[in-house]
Amino acid sequence: MWLYLVALLGLWNLLRLFRERQVVSHLQDKHVFITGCDSGFGNLLARQLDRRGMRVLAACLTENGAEELRSKTSDRLETVILDVTKTESIVAATQWVKERVGNRGLWGLVNNAGIAIFAFNEWLNKQDFAKVLDVNLLGMIEVTLSMLPLVRKARGRVVNVSSVMGRLSFFGGGYSISKYGVEAFSDSLRRELSYFGVKVAIIEPGGFKTALSSNDRVSPTIKMLFDQASSEVKEIYGEKFLSSLNSLMETCSEDLTLVTDCMEHALTSRHPRTRYSAGWDAKLIYLPMSYLPTFVSDALVYLSSVKPAQAL
Ligand SMILES: NC(=O)c1ccc[n+]([C@@H]2O[C@H](COP(=O)([O-])OP(=O)(O)OC[C@H]3O[C@@H](n4cnc5c(N)ncnc54)[C@H](OP(=O)(O)O)[C@@H]3O)[C@@H](O)[C@H]2O)c1
Repeated sequence: MWLYLVALLGLWNLLRLFRERQVVSHLQDKHVFITGCDSGFGNLLARQLDRRGMRVLAACLTENGAEELRSKTSDRLETVILDVTKTESIVAATQWVKERVGNRGLWGLVNNAGIAIFAFNEWLNKQDFAKVLDVNLLGMIEVTLSMLPLVRKARGRVVNVSSVMGRLSFFGGGYSISKYGVEAFSDSLRRELSYFGVKVAIIEPGGFKTALSSNDRVSPTIKMLFDQASSEVKEIYGEKFLSSLNSLMETCSEDLTLVTDCMEHALTSRHPRTRYSAGWDAKLIYLPMSYLPTFVSDALVYLSSVKPAQAL
């Protein structure tokens, strides 16, 4: 009996592997628009797809980032400046894309741009939450709505970058909230667009060393947020707690291809997955934890965290 079950499971996995390895045709004619290409996953994905011969339309936040990317890629890759929090910038970028894709439409839209503020809710004000939601969630929604007619025309793909923190919230601030929103938006979009042959994939990376998670960026931000908190909050949490938050970032993986390979698969496989988890911590810790009963995951987070100075 067990032998049959194991054989069936093996067969199922083989079939799935075979199905997922089928690649869409004419990749060299397909345009992919990626947001947040100055650094990190977006930058690496742009270079990866360019090497694969696809037509990459890379959106960068800064002219410096765009120039640097162009210097490392073929003439096929084109860049545009895009701030996803600004409607006029999205409208201009959409027009720019329209002119390039013509009647073929846009094959791939990768919503990757993002920022993070890792802190405790009590240290923050409403603006601190709004700043993250504006880029990670509302920016993604506005870019998607603007580009959707072009993606529908190509019966293409939308790839939304979420996080394990869209499945399990273990920090305060707007980041997890934005990624839970990305999950909900992507789920409704996937169901809605299935009528038109458009596929939507969600990428859920664990911790990776990029600008967003680098100590150079995280430490000063955490310190600045701590400093803006009331003296009562400072006393309750204490400076030791502050440094323990910083050291968490050091456990992140350096192999960004684990994430960009998932994005590439979502754009090039004939049968992309709905969700991709990237990184050993995502697969072995965070996603399994998200399926546990809440009291168990709460206890695990409690046991593994450093307690505030005045915790009971
Ligand atoms: N690194 C991780 O551990 C991790 C884990 C899970 C999910 N993610 C997600 O992965 C995505 C990419 O992040 P990353 O880790 O590659 O970090 P990253 O290197 O900081 O990349 C994020 C990119 O978004 C750009 N950006 C910031 N604000 C923007 C705006 N308003 N409009 C347009 N672009 C903007 C950044 O530009 P500047 O560099 O010029 O600011 C940067 O190029 C994000 O959605 C992030 O939430 C990251």
